[in-house]
Amino acid sequence: MYALGIESSCDDTSVAIVDKRRVLSNIVVSSLRFHKIYGGIVPEIATRNHLKFIDKVLNTSIKEANIDLRKIGVIGFTYTPGLTGALVVGVNFAKALSLVLSKPLVGVNHLYAHLYAPFLNNNINFPFPFIGLVVSGGHTGLFLVRDFDRVKCIGRTRDDAAGEVFDKVARAFGLGYPGGVYIDKIFEKKYKDCFEFKCGRLGLDFSFSGIKTALIYKKSEFKKKRMLSEELKVKLLSSFQESIAKVIVYNTILAAKQYKIKTLVCGGGVIANRRLRELLKTASVKNGLNLLLSPPHLSCDNAAVVAGLAFYLYNIKRRESKFNIKVSSN
Ligand code: KG4
Ligand code: ZN
Repeated sequence: MYALGIESSCDDTSVAIVDKRRVLSNIVVSSLRFHKIYGGIVPEIATRNHLKFIDKVLNTSIKEANIDLRKIGVIGFTYTPGLTGALVVGVNFAKALSLVLSKPLVGVNHLYAHLYAPFLNNNINFPFPFIGLVVSGGHTGLFLVRDFDRVKCIGRTRDDAAGEVFDKVARAFGLGYPGGVYIDKIFEKKYKDCFEFKCGRLGLDFSFSGIKTALIYKKSEFKKKRMLSEELKVKLLSSFQESIAKVIVYNTILAAKQYKIKTLVCGGGVIANRRLRELLKTASVKNGLNLLLSPPHLSCDNAAVVAGLAFYLYNIKRRESKFNIKVSSN
């Protein structure tokens, strides 16, 4: 049997079909181009575009997977966290499909779905318990994962999410959206320590808003003095990215030590960042930890991770959601 997954928590409308851990289709349509002029995601625009796209995305996904709809055994969907209106579209679409096809529903947490990415298209054993690191545009958190239905948050950002800070800083520097992708591209290792930007942390919690403000002030200072060359911008942004990556790695390793856990599992859009991946790999080797990274193409929002997790929860953990399940923005 197959699992069908639906993701609509932010700007991506996605429908995927998986056969156990194998991804048969994973169609993602983003409304990003309609948000770009505002420099961030506008919830109303996201909701309207989910409504516009979702049935077409479903049809394309089924066509690509080339399966008989009757062989779908479960319908997974993101019900939390995310933009309320955006989630409502996906949840109600899932409910309608469940009625039409007479199939069970499994609502999944978007953050835990990000942690499922390293387990798709392979047969790696699930290394429970593990430390889960989710770094995305809306969230930055550390989790103690005993199983996918036994997850405890052990660290979180106290203010902005890491991806959000990448996006805001990139905007201040006149780069495109989503900012993380642009900053990742222009990062130069030789400039990583040019400026000493520090990220806040308290225990296993993060704080990213201070570094954002510090960087934007520094940029204005240089601009006033007419010193803001393209090279200086790269130096500033490389030092900024290095500092963000370092604090994420520091807290993740600390979490593994505190909880005496030997495996790290990482997911979310920011995990696509090349320097962060490199630092996570180095630190894991140094500390004798097993590291599972979400592959870059499954790091950003997509429904394959939702379908995969729903398959697991339904078949292994015998979980099923009630038809009256409601969305929850956080
Ligand atoms: O997981 P995701 O697609 O959506 C949320 O759940 O929020 O993450 C999107 C975030 C954006 O903030 C984007 O700037 C960031 O992931 N991102 C990156 C990279 N690719 C995407 N950040 C740093 N480096 C990247 N290569
Ligand atoms: Zn996400």
